[in-house]
Amino acid sequence: MDKFKISGGHPLSGEVPVSGSKNSALPALAACLLTDEPVTLKRIPQARELQTREMPVAHTGAKILDRNGTVEVEARDLERPEAPYDVVKTMRASSLVLGPLVARTGRARVSMPGGCAIGARPINLHVSALEHLGAEIQQSHGYVEAVALDGLRGGEVHFDRITVTGTEDVLMAAVLARGETVIRNAAREPEVTDLADLLTKMGARIEGAGTSIIRVEGVERLHGTEHAIIPDRIEAGTFLLAAAITRGDLMVSDCNPEHVGALIMKMRQAGAEINEDGDSIRVRCPNSAKAVDVTTEEYPGFATDLQAQYMAWMTVARGISFVTETIFENRFMHAPELTRMGANIRIEGRQAIIAGEEQLMGTQVIASDLRASASLVLAALIAKGESTIHRVYHIDRGYEQIERKLAQVGAKIERVQ
Ligand code: EPZ
Repeated sequence: MDKFKISGGHPLSGEVPVSGSKNSALPALAACLLTDEPVTLKRIPQARELQTREMPVAHTGAKILDRNGTVEVEARDLERPEAPYDVVKTMRASSLVLGPLVARTGRARVSMPGGCAIGARPINLHVSALEHLGAEIQQSHGYVEAVALDGLRGGEVHFDRITVTGTEDVLMAAVLARGETVIRNAAREPEVTDLADLLTKMGARIEGAGTSIIRVEGVERLHGTEHAIIPDRIEAGTFLLAAAITRGDLMVSDCNPEHVGALIMKMRQAGAEINEDGDSIRVRCPNSAKAVDVTTEEYPGFATDLQAQYMAWMTVARGISFVTETIFENRFMHAPELTRMGANIRIEGRQAIIAGEEQLMGTQVIASDLRASASLVLAALIAKGESTIHRVYHIDRGYEQIERKLAQVGAKIERVQ
């Protein structure tokens, strides 16, 4: 299993480009199942989670052509409207094919994703939303079986709590349902808006994406199109924090500053100098940070996917900070590993209390999930001496060649096979 070896103490400088968004690519690929015509998606990041051949989309019988980040999907014949356990167990976002498959073919059989390191992550809200559109759903032997042989019908969906992929799943179902669907308490994440933009290019009729009320007027069929997905805001945020923690001077380019607005506000409060210019952000942080509290929230609040990386920065800040996680019930797995590096962190339920230290120490640590591994990389970039990060397959799931990008801006990092 690959691991990273990192020698700390080298400020990052120069320019690093951001790739396409992993969390936008996944629903975009699933949306291709809604038409029998070819759809071309651009900026698909070469992150492991998106290795197309494994994707549930391929399993359905859709033809996929991946040319170095430009992916053409043609879902002419969907012989297998299903996402089997072997596919879902490696990639829980496979549940995103549930809505498109039942809307397009009248049936879908999808393995239930099960829990992961950061929480139980049920899909009950996806299921009840699709039932509101007339799907008959049974759960048996670890599978969700959805049937709507006469097609779906528009309806009123009100999510009990905001769910990103739940909103995306029901949005993809509603575009082919008869009549109007209203989705209330919808997720406002940029990935939802990007999906709505793609569906609209395919001929869907959607209003209100990006707000908490989305209205969809169903259509008979959708057609092919071309679409470039949005930049990865979590990758952009990770690089901003990498520059700050190393007290560097970095230009993060090909990104959308607005999508990381909440992070930028907190980083400025902590003392970082941040200049936004079109699709680039320059960050300079000559001094150690001032401790600043954060609470994770749904967009446009502070992203839970940046919580771990932010915590790494706070471990060397001046003062005590409180990091509160409101989205997932078990997203502090990085804290004990940061503590092994000399950080001073106490966990009390959904809150971490961090007393900033002068210096972290290089050592061996283990990554537990995607964003936790990014947090350990950031800590190792400033730790005294060398660190070894094990199980970096976690970081490969969501970042495209992160060690190459970091090395290009001055990090002493290498992948050891
Ligand atoms: C998406 O996950 C992202 N994944 C996650 O990114 C991200 O952390 C999360 O949204 C929150 O922003 C993708 O887009 C592929 P949710 P998702 O449904 O949609 C509970 C990363 O690091 N819930 O918004 O699965 C759920 O357990 C990943 O890139 C239910 O109870 O998250 C959680 O506590 C990690 N029932 C909360 O809602 C449901 O049916 C929000 O989850 C659905 C969700």
